[in-house]
Parts: sequence; C-alpha cells; structure tokens
Amino acid sequence: MTTAVPLRLPAHLDHPFSPQGRLDPYPAYDWLRSHAPVHYDTMARLWLVTGHADCAAVLRDRAFSAAAGQRGRARGEELPPSMLTTDPPDHTRLRTPGQSLLGPAAIASVAAEIAGDVDDLLERLAGETVVDAVEEIGGPLATSVFLRLFGLAESDRRTFTQLAQAASINLDPLAGPQIAALGRSAMGELSRFLDAHCAVARPSPLSRLAADDRLTRPETLGVLGLAVVGGWRPLAETVGNALYWLLPRPRVLALLREGGDGAARTVMDELLRLEAPIPFTARVALRNVRLPGGEVPEGARVLAVLAAANRDPAVFARPGELVPDRTPNPHLAFGAGPHFCLGAQLVRQTGALLLARLAERFPAASLADSRPSWAATLVPRRLRALPVNLGGGDGR
Ligand code: HEM
Repeated sequence: MTTAVPLRLPAHLDHPFSPQGRLDPYPAYDWLRSHAPVHYDTMARLWLVTGHADCAAVLRDRAFSAAAGQRGRARGEELPPSMLTTDPPDHTRLRTPGQSLLGPAAIASVAAEIAGDVDDLLERLAGETVVDAVEEIGGPLATSVFLRLFGLAESDRRTFTQLAQAASINLDPLAGPQIAALGRSAMGELSRFLDAHCAVARPSPLSRLAADDRLTRPETLGVLGLAVVGGWRPLAETVGNALYWLLPRPRVLALLREGGDGAARTVMDELLRLEAPIPFTARVALRNVRLPGGEVPEGARVLAVLAAANRDPAVFARPGELVPDRTPNPHLAFGAGPHFCLGAQLVRQTGALLLARLAERFPAASLADSRPSWAATLVPRRLRALPVNLGGGDGR
C-alpha cells in the first residue's frame, strides 16, 4: 500500500527503528520531520508521521481508525475487549465508565495513600548510597499506584508486578507474531488474576468500576487489563527517563523543591515531552487523507510518532532542551483526541509528587553513570538501568 517514492535517510543517520537508531532516534526524527513529515517507510512498511500538526491530526481525525489499526494483531477471542482498539461509538461506551477507575474523583480517593507510599519508598532508600532508579524507584512506585487503584494488598505486590511486567510486552504495536503470542498468553493470565480479584475487591476505584452495570465482566476486565498494559510500565519507566534529564540540572531540582505543586507539574510535563515513554501509536486511514505535511492513501497503516512531534521546532522553542517553565506545553506524550490517555492526570500528579519529594529529601542526588544505556525496545522508550547517587540525603 504505497504510492509514495521510498525515502532514504542520509548515510550518517541510523533508521530510528534499527538496533543502533533506537538508542538515539531523535536525529533521524528531526531529519524526517523537516524533510518528509508524512512518508512511507520501507523498513517498517508503514507510514511514519513525524510533524506535530500531522500527528495531532492523525489522532483527532475520525478518518483514522484505532480499531482497524490493531486488527492485524489478532488479540484472540478469549481476551477481553480493549477501548484502545475500538472507535467511537463503541469506544465511548467503554471509556465513559473508565472514569470510575481513573477519573478525578477516583484519583482523589487514593491520592493520600499514594503520597504515603511515595514517602515510604523514599524513606526506605535513605540508607542507600547508589540505587537503580528504574528497578528501585520506578517499578515499586508503579506497583504501589496500582495496588491502591485496584484495592490489592501489599502481599499481592510480587504477583502483580510479575503479571504487569509480562503483560507489558503488548505495548509494542510493531511486535512480531512470536512476541504477540507471548503477549496474549500474559494478558490471559493477568485477566484471570483480575477476574478473581473483582469478586472480592475491597472498596477502591476497581470495585466501583466492577459494580458499574454498563459494562459486562469481560469489558470491565478489558478496562483493567488495558490500564495495566498501558500504564504500569510507562509509569515505571517515566521515572528513570525523567531523572536522567533532571539530575544533571541542579537549578531545576531547586525549582522542584521550592516552586510548589504547579511548578512540579510543569516540569513533569516537560520531562514527558522530552522523553515520551510511548514514542508512537498506530492507526489505519479509512480513506485518502490530506495531512498538513502530505497525503496518505486509504488503507495506509500509519504510525503517529509522538516522540518526533514533541520536538517539532514549529511548536516548541528550543525543542531538544529541558525548559522547566514551558507553558503552554502541547506535547503529545499522552496522545490526543478520543484515545487521550485516561491515566494522564494520575501520571502527572504522581510523577510531580515523586520528583518534588525526591528533590527535597535528596538535594545532592546525582547520576552515578552519566551515560546510562537505553534499552533496545521501541515501546516503551526506557533505560536499562539508571544508577543514581543519592548523595547522603537523610530520608526525612
Ligand atoms: C507516563 C505514563 C503514560 C504515558 C506516557 C501514557 C501514554 C498514553 C498514550 C500515548 C495513549 C494513547 C494511545 C493511542 O492513542 O493509541 C494512552 C492511552 C491510555 N492510557 Fe496511558 N500513558 C501513561 C500511563 C497510564 C496509566 C498509569 C494508566 C492507567 C492507570 C493509563 C491508561 C491509559 C488508557 C486506559 C488509555 C486508553 C484510552 C483510550 O483508548 O481511550 N496510562 N496512554
């Protein structure tokens, strides 16, 4: 499905999805955005859309389908439906009750507990010198958030973390058939765990969702499973990605300590813009569509490259720099349009809280390795590890 002339990147640039290019895809994204923001990519065999206006249009325009976009991944009859793979009006029917799990009232109901978990987590680290922020902060934080949302007990921490880790291989829309099969089986296991838990859940956002008779049980499990797949790993990895940018910048750390909630949330958004854990998402064009940067034909499989859009100089001044007071910040790290991340408020709130408290308790924290390595996975964008020197903070 291409009518376009194949495009070649200049020899000095690695393809952003090649093993080398994955480690630092931004130079290739910059080139593509400025030379061909909408083009057919012969390596990925789909259309790559890299301009901000183009990506926003793909995500918002009904001419692009999320349902058709995922059909090729054959989720299997035994798996619950996912709102991410439906289009309106089906999508709206699944998403509206999802507010019981992730809407403002649901988040407010667990905010104090999550804040306590953040403090406990940092306190446990206080005696350590060097910690791996990915394993020891990001992962445990994400699990704590889900234990609270789902009303799970602390004794479920290990099982839940293992299930969430296994299921997160479903995040990558470019995964091959073998990985997709593993992903389906992990999803089945997670669904069975959540199904058993729904029957006995203590009062929590999950129990309120489970009691909503607008959804069948498989649909409820679909919302819960999607929250885990779409949320656990991205939230966990955001912590390492954020600290990688933050810790070498003491002035931004000082702003986090002194600027209050508003400043911390503005910084959090800027960190998500710079290092989006979900760098792209897929759609299918239902007809020929003219985007600002070019035309895609009917039936085209399209990747909206959010990570490229987030550094578009037409929208963001100094796009490759951390600008801690950037407002407005119309980044697309949470997507846009009908599928805009249902967990965005939770992520902003929890992420800002963690960063502010960490900056406060460990004012001398620094990177123990100034060149940590990025994992070769495409989604999420993540560091293999991020050793952080806590610099003798007292944990108070
Ligand atoms: C930094 C962390 C996160 C990032 C970067 C992120 C990003 C995204 C993006 C880009 C989408 C849209 C995908 C598309 O349009 O195809 C999305 C959708 C979604 N996210 Fe997140 N997400 C994060 C965390 C979470 C968390 C913690 C939860 C739940 C607890 C969550 C729940 C969802 C759900 C349910 C959807 C589907 C919405 C729909 O289809 O209507 N996300 N997320």
